[in-house]
Amino acid sequence: MQNIDLTQDLESVVLGIDAFDDETELSAAHLHNALSLLHQVLGEGSWVGLYLATPARLILGPFQGTPACEKIAFGKGVVGECYSSEKTITVKDVTKRANYICCDATAKSEICVPMKKDGCLVAVLDVDLPYVHEYADKEVVAFEKIAAKLLRFC
Ligand code: SME
Repeated sequence: MQNIDLTQDLESVVLGIDAFDDETELSAAHLHNALSLLHQVLGEGSWVGLYLATPARLILGPFQGTPACEKIAFGKGVVGECYSSEKTITVKDVTKRANYICCDATAKSEICVPMKKDGCLVAVLDVDLPYVHEYADKEVVAFEKIAAKLLRFC
């Protein structure tokens, strides 16, 4: 099957997030709407959300999609590994990934992006797609851009 190019849709999300104002009281609302926008462009069956860093572990934050794992230990799963390595991780096919936590059997590929604010890792942007997907470099850049934009509201 041909690989879908998500770049343009992701860029439209970046523009959407840029359009939100800076009213502090609306930060949480903006975050929910930004994740909704991302979920919408990625389509039915996708999952998008934030895992928020606490001193001891990562906790499920705002998300769009089916119910998900509520806590993840540092280093565990793709999310925990992303947090510990402070690096974006893409997984083309989750069935082939050793350190993977399955929250929903319909998820087939995943990208996790670390979110750093003032030098401190505050969250991981986690995205699951319901199909196997080879993440192109320009898609990774676009996801990283979205994660950076979301920091405005964290
Ligand atoms: N698959 C993730 C767990 C979180 S869910 O995808 C929402 C992982 O391996 O860490």
